[in-house]
Amino acid sequence: MQVRIEELKKSFAAALSAADSADALEALRVEYLGKKGHVAELMAQLRFAEDKKAAGQLINGLKVEVESGIEAAIEEQRQAAISAKIRSAKKYNPTLRATEQLGSYHPITLATREVEEVFISMGFTIENYNEIVDDYQCFEALNIPKHHPARDMQDTYYLDNGQLLKTHTSAAQNHIMKKYGAPLRAIFPGRCFRNESTDACHENTFFQMEGMMIDENISISNLIYFMKTMLSEVFKRDIKVRLRPGFFPFVEPGFELDINCLICGGEGCPSCKNSGWLELCPCGMIHPNVLKEGGIDTEKYSGFAFGLGLTRLAMMKYGVKDIRDFNGGSLKSLSQFKSI
Ligand code: FA5
Repeated sequence: MQVRIEELKKSFAAALSAADSADALEALRVEYLGKKGHVAELMAQLRFAEDKKAAGQLINGLKVEVESGIEAAIEEQRQAAISAKIRSAKKYNPTLRATEQLGSYHPITLATREVEEVFISMGFTIENYNEIVDDYQCFEALNIPKHHPARDMQDTYYLDNGQLLKTHTSAAQNHIMKKYGAPLRAIFPGRCFRNESTDACHENTFFQMEGMMIDENISISNLIYFMKTMLSEVFKRDIKVRLRPGFFPFVEPGFELDINCLICGGEGCPSCKNSGWLELCPCGMIHPNVLKEGGIDTEKYSGFAFGLGLTRLAMMKYGVKDIRDFNGGSLKSLSQFKSI
């Protein structure tokens, strides 16, 4: 049996080096390890061997040699196939001109940049702030204590750790007041999240741009001047605006600034909930409690704040009828903004 096993080992080694495909290796496996293969044949003869234990070990040695030989050959063939693929692949050439279709800026990015430019030209700085905030920043620092009914106006996504997704960019007011003190002129755009049912003018994820100006002798006239300038610069044409009283605990007095719906010209459509007007930029004089909480001397300073609905502004500016298109990810819709 020993002689036979040595012969089989030799013939296996020769056949293995000649096997140049996965099929050839499989055939070899069947020939040696299959039900009617050489190893099975040797096992059947084991009972006639004088020293069964020694013979069994020899047969097992052959089996292991065949198994590991085939396994190594399979891996070698796999590596060779990868190398061949790499060799035949087109080489990356970083100096070639881009011929593929280029991407485009999202309309909200375009609208944000345009509004930012207007405010930069009026001496405002741009601030960035977190999307995950805590109850203090989003509500308490804004004169909205726990259990205040105003919290119901913004359906909040709470996280397991007690933090929450920013429902409005006002959540950064306190941080920015504490960071810079007065006088201060800053805008801070950001993504906001509300657990709302969506429709043509409501999304659960949308952008706002907050603005604050704090200085000596700031009045409602300053607020109206800055709002008017921003709108006429962004829309570059006359648009009808209305200012009406609005309640927000962090401003006093507070206003709702609406614009005439540019989709329907004020006649009423789903984009403006058939009212002809779109709530765009609530604003007001910052409440003294909010200024104090931000470390501002209310004897000396006053200020205004606004919360521009950036996504709605982009709707009006670019004639997008349904706010949900902005988050829809349709490249066909978004590519229209390439040339703007
Ligand atoms: C606020 O969020 C206040 N923080 C704004 C503010 C700031 C008032 C500073 C006074 C001083 P409001 O919930 O109304 O207010 O949202 C402000 C604007 O964000 C709305 O006028 C609207 O343009 C936009 N907005 C609100 N909810 C949505 C929504 N679900 N989808 C799209 N835009 C929205």
